[in-house]
Amino acid sequence: MKHIKFIGFIFFLFSLTESLALPTKPQDVDPFYATHKFIEENTAYLTIIAVAQYVQEVSFDEVEMLVKVMMDYRDRCLANRTLPECSKIANEVIQDMICTTEGLPQKHNVSHCCSKANIERRLCFFYNKKAKTGFLPPFPTLDPEEKCEAYKNNNGSFLNLYMYEVARRNPFVFSPVLLTVAAQFEEAATTCCEQQEKAICFQAKAAPITQYLKASSSYQGTVCGALMKFGPKALNSINTAVFSKKFPKIGFQDLTSLLGDVSTMYDMCCEGDVVHCIRSQSQVMNHICSKQDFISSKIKECCEKKMPERGDCIINTNKEDKPEDLSPREPKFTDSKNVCQEQDSNLDGLLNEFTYEYSRRHNHLSTPELLRITEVYKDLLEDCCSKENPAGCYRHAEDKFNETTEKSLAMVQQECKLFQELEKDALQLHYLVKFTKAAPQLSLEELIYLSKGMMEALTTCCTLSEEFACVDDLADLVLGDLCGVNENRTINPAVDHCCRTDFAFRRHCFEHLQADTTYELPSFSALISALRSDWCQAHKEDLQNKKHRFMVNLVKWMPEITAEERQCLFTKFIAAGEKCDQVQEPETCFRPEASNIGNESEAANKKR
Ligand SMILES: *[C@@H]1O[C@H](CO)[C@@H](O)[C@H](O)[C@H]1NC(C)=O
Ligand SMILES: *[C@@H]1O[C@H](CO)[C@@H](O)[C@H](O)[C@H]1NC(C)=O
Ligand SMILES: *[C@@H]1O[C@H](CO)[C@@H](O)[C@H](O)[C@H]1NC(C)=O
Ligand SMILES: *[C@@H]1O[C@H](CO)[C@@H](O)[C@H](O)[C@H]1NC(C)=O
Ligand SMILES: *[C@@H]1O[C@H](CO)[C@@H](O)[C@H](O)[C@H]1NC(C)=O
Ligand SMILES: *[C@@H]1O[C@H](CO)[C@@H](O)[C@H](O)[C@H]1NC(C)=O
Repeated sequence: MKHIKFIGFIFFLFSLTESLALPTKPQDVDPFYATHKFIEENTAYLTIIAVAQYVQEVSFDEVEMLVKVMMDYRDRCLANRTLPECSKIANEVIQDMICTTEGLPQKHNVSHCCSKANIERRLCFFYNKKAKTGFLPPFPTLDPEEKCEAYKNNNGSFLNLYMYEVARRNPFVFSPVLLTVAAQFEEAATTCCEQQEKAICFQAKAAPITQYLKASSSYQGTVCGALMKFGPKALNSINTAVFSKKFPKIGFQDLTSLLGDVSTMYDMCCEGDVVHCIRSQSQVMNHICSKQDFISSKIKECCEKKMPERGDCIINTNKEDKPEDLSPREPKFTDSKNVCQEQDSNLDGLLNEFTYEYSRRHNHLSTPELLRITEVYKDLLEDCCSKENPAGCYRHAEDKFNETTEKSLAMVQQECKLFQELEKDALQLHYLVKFTKAAPQLSLEELIYLSKGMMEALTTCCTLSEEFACVDDLADLVLGDLCGVNENRTINPAVDHCCRTDFAFRRHCFEHLQADTTYELPSFSALISALRSDWCQAHKEDLQNKKHRFMVNLVKWMPEITAEERQCLFTKFIAAGEKCDQVQEPETCFRPEASNIGNESEAANKKR
């Protein structure tokens, strides 16, 4: 995590109330002033976000008390900026506040962080975040009438409560996203509470908000996970591909300078520094908007908006058109004689420029695919430059690029074919089986979550014209969720290997995973009996949930039976139905010895 250390030296610039430059323009158009003002106005929300993300167990009462402390601090510092405590960085102030609140660190298990200082403490709070929030109660759902009553009576506290509940369940999502979500929710409450059909109105408004939150959380978690596992270079390659695709007109020098700001933003936002995150994102957007002529013709309207809409607007605008004279190939990388020299003297620079040139020319490809191609190029150079005639060797690079892309394309086509052929239920079971085979150690909830993620990716993408990029990008986010943000998960050796070895080829690695066989299996008759009793218990349970759990157990306990055998068992148990009738001869599912009922050694051999 060395990269986080580098940012220490700019910290003193970013205390909560400090204004970066005395505004020379009218105040409301000066971007620094606007950001500053925005942070001041949102101090309560930002405090809630930081506290609820760092210490997810904290109660709302505790949060409200901390918000009061923070508001006092802000007012004190606004009245007199020269007070010594006012030069502290906001993130430090918030962590100090958590640590000095009597009983709070002990109660919520953060004493070990509070006993540390500086970067160690910041990282400790970061590592304390837990992506899986099953230990929290389900998101509270209020009756719409009650909701509106609460909103009318005390809109401030009501919105704070909402922010708290959302933030603690999404500990890695960046603060600008949460502020946008809060604004959208407030808008929904204002509109819906005036209507007759409140429930319908809330439902309609909530869907896009939830969708936006989930998508942002998943993307940001995956990128932060890449930063944590693979370091700043990986982050830079991802952003090179993403920004070159989106802004193919930008020059390489301009891109490099922009990406400097983007990297700072990720350093801040991934660590969970909510105030820095806002500032650095705003800096990125100012950078983009101030160079619109060189970057994109499509963001003019976005750049006229205010925070936080401006950032979202820019992120969601369409790709800029490719310059007309941009040929599909840049000869510099495959036809020039000097490539090996440059590889020796400046490999990272060469590869970054390659990613840039390839991405802006192939902006219909997914981000992971562009990184795969860069890796293929890197490996090819390594190989060719040790040969007698390097230029003759790397001249054929494009074949290799196409080969890689075709493999990835085939994978996506296969996935979309399944989507076309299978019904929703069957598709989810397919992915449930796939994930359970690869990672039987995961909980049922997580397995269901992952298979839903795949299903959503396919449902979103498989009819689009840019089907490939869409599926490949979204499916990679599902794996990002699986691999974890702030931890190197230990699930099983094969899965851990796929998560840690190679960011670009992660999807391919998972695609080739075999069933995990390190999992201990009981005897066949014990399995059938356990499956039967699992099926027969909990009659009131939702049928779909029951089916999913049953399937997961089936795969966990019998990972290597064939798809037909699994389907046969599944069908027999489903047929036995809700009433838990006797399951008819489950042993006969193991063909061809269909009549060989009870031949345990036979069936047991097949499982292994
Ligand atoms: C602001 O704080 C400084 C440092 O504590 C103090 O010297 C100064 O008198 C204060 N100014 C006002 C206006 O209170
Ligand atoms: C705090 O951590 C200890 C051990 O690490 C654990 O036993 C305990 O349940 C945790 N308490 C809370 C409130 O999470
Ligand atoms: C609460 O409602 C009042 C009156 O409608 C409004 O002035 C105030 O800005 C609202 N507060 C928040 C936090 O939305
Ligand atoms: C690689 O694929 C692209 C796009 O499909 C095609 O235009 C190009 O001719 C291919 N190059 C080679 C060397 O096969
Ligand atoms: C995870 O692994 C990477 C690479 O091996 C390492 O740099 C990082 O510190 C590890 N992270 C944690 C939380 O252990
Ligand atoms: C069970 O199958 C094995 C292997 O095919 C065979 O050797 C054995 O005789 C069978 N046992 C019975 C009781 O049918």
